[in-house]
Amino acid sequence: MRKRITVLKGDGIGPEIVNEALKVLEAVAETYGHHFAYQCMDIGGIAIDQHGTPLPQETTDACLDADSVLLGAVGGPKWDGLPGDIRPEKGLLGIRKAMGLYANLRPARLFPQLADASPLRREIVEKGIDFVVVRELIGGVYFGEHKTEEVDGELVATDVMPYAEHEIRRIVQVAMEIAKKRRSCVTSVDKANVLDTSRLWRKVAGQVAAEHPDVAFSNMLVDNAAMQIVKNPAQFDVMVTENMFGDILTDEASMITGSIGMIPSASLGDGTRGLYEPIHGSAPDIAGQDKANPIGTILSAAMMLRYSFDLCREADAVEAAVAQVLDQGLRTADSMADGCTLVGCRAMGDAIAAAISAQT
Ligand code: NAD
Ligand code: IPM
Ligand code: MN
Repeated sequence: MRKRITVLKGDGIGPEIVNEALKVLEAVAETYGHHFAYQCMDIGGIAIDQHGTPLPQETTDACLDADSVLLGAVGGPKWDGLPGDIRPEKGLLGIRKAMGLYANLRPARLFPQLADASPLRREIVEKGIDFVVVRELIGGVYFGEHKTEEVDGELVATDVMPYAEHEIRRIVQVAMEIAKKRRSCVTSVDKANVLDTSRLWRKVAGQVAAEHPDVAFSNMLVDNAAMQIVKNPAQFDVMVTENMFGDILTDEASMITGSIGMIPSASLGDGTRGLYEPIHGSAPDIAGQDKANPIGTILSAAMMLRYSFDLCREADAVEAAVAQVLDQGLRTADSMADGCTLVGCRAMGDAIAAAISAQT
């Protein structure tokens, strides 16, 4: 199979973790007889520095032209003082919107080998952590009107949070379909006791759920959901929620699986072209030190193989290779535990790539 992948390394640890994922994709290509062609483009802070904008038109064009997109992370202290519409993060929001990627799948799965890295008590971890957060990605407060204006001699800032029925319907529909391939249970998370958007969300989600009687469906308020994720994560199969709640809950969910560096994501729209990125940021505190955990990005590449290219055997191989190196006791600093071997970002990528090559 021949595929063209646009690669957006971005800022901070972005280039380091993406390089390891490319290593792994090359091991897959070689082992299974595929050809992946990569085109690297700028996004985020580096694009601001090189082109004066966080999302150059050439980058958008290259993403829309590719079979799929792999992204590292954007942002960093260097660009923190810039106004909202020319910050690195605006580039990420822009490419998600331009590609129509409304469904962000964020699997929170604990590799049993990392049980000791989870801050949760053993007896909670042992019940298993394996759920997917389906996060709406191109609506809500991220994309409503933003303004700061002077009113009565002081500044007043406003961020508008709109949701239309069709935006809610299509993301809940995605959650239903995913649930049917898992344990057929969907929890819709909202703040319907306060927000109009959430009351509409709950109404539309209920309508969609009624069309899927084979899926066990319930609603949960977001503050309770944040608590339940640490109290009893085994109760969740698929959680579906709006953009900002999903952002926050998935950082929380990642940590209970051992490290934010472990969690991948797939951002999908109506076609097969997607954008794949770890859920964490550019980690400026460890950038350039070969300390970052590349596994979230490597597992994102596995999701690309599965969802965009329908290469399920290859995706399984990547996930098995990750499990294998964890079995061998290799750990980056974020998930280090007693008796394990501390490795850097590159050595972790090398080991996973080698494990793939050794599988056949
Ligand atoms: P962050 O996720 O970058 O880092 C939070 C903490 O987790 C840091 O201590 C970091 O070292 C650690 N961490 C993150 N990824 C890791 C990895 N792979 N391996 C080991 N440790 C890891 O969040 P932040 O510090 O709040 O944000 C830093 C910058 O990243 C900001 O500019 C923010 O806007 C941006 N950001 C970008 C994305 C993205 O591109 N998708 C996501 C989140 C934050
Ligand atoms: C993420 C990030 C982004 C988001 C930021 C950097 C715009 O936190 O991908 O989780 O909030 O979506
Ligand atoms: Mn986030």
